[in-house]
Amino acid sequence: MKGVVLAGGLGSRLKPLTKVTNKHLLPVYNQPMIYYPINTLINAGIADIMIVTGGNSAGDFLKLLGNGKSFGLKHLNYTYQEGEGGIADALSLVEHFADDEAVCVVLGDNIIEGNIKTAKEDYERQDKGAKILLKKVHDPQRFGVPELDGSKVLQIEEKPEKPKSDYAVIGIYFYDPTVFDIIKTLEPSHRGELEITDVNNHYINSGTMTWNELDGWWTDAGTFESLLYATNLVAETGANNLELRNAKGNLTAKNAK
Ligand code: G1P
Repeated sequence: MKGVVLAGGLGSRLKPLTKVTNKHLLPVYNQPMIYYPINTLINAGIADIMIVTGGNSAGDFLKLLGNGKSFGLKHLNYTYQEGEGGIADALSLVEHFADDEAVCVVLGDNIIEGNIKTAKEDYERQDKGAKILLKKVHDPQRFGVPELDGSKVLQIEEKPEKPKSDYAVIGIYFYDPTVFDIIKTLEPSHRGELEITDVNNHYINSGTMTWNELDGWWTDAGTFESLLYATNLVAETGANNLELRNAKGNLTAKNAK
């Protein structure tokens, strides 16, 4: 399975922080935001990773990450998304890299406390289709929201006014290689983007979508409120099951207790 981190976009909801730089280079506590989704993939045993970037400061990703040596990687792949085509448009750029393998896609502003190992292993036992991860939230209107019937997901609505559950579809997805054909059939939404929710509904309609509930906390970091929330969560508890060390090298927060 290959890994993809989507780190493009204009980060409009974080202006002026994103006026001259890319959202995913901003700090979340003691690391640049993009470190967290990369660690999410590596913790799940996915080491063949492509970063899709775009917008401002795209070249700074190379400067920051290089070939991924500080993550124990031998190599990192990069591609560039022109314009603001949305998450599904960004994903379409990795078709050649995926080379007929399944992909695990992580949105560059999604941060988790734990890991996605179980979900990955469950998905590997599924011979086709897709898997999404869900998390209970108090403000589902901000996210893709599933309508559930027991273990079945009936549909997903993007930022619904009246959510049909109190779950968010988090920004970590598993797809088989048919995802690239699905993306080619999509039309832009009212916000002018190819929506990942439309991709997911396609799999739901063909009966090949499964879901897992994520353990541990999850947050995005694409607004001032969520960026502050993410920073505080990481400072208090650490992320990606990684040990958290302060500037003096001492363990802090959860791991120190
Ligand atoms: C995107 C997806 C949404 C998902 C969210 C998770 O929203 O469209 O379905 O719940 O990421 O972070 P966006 O951040 O583009 O508004």
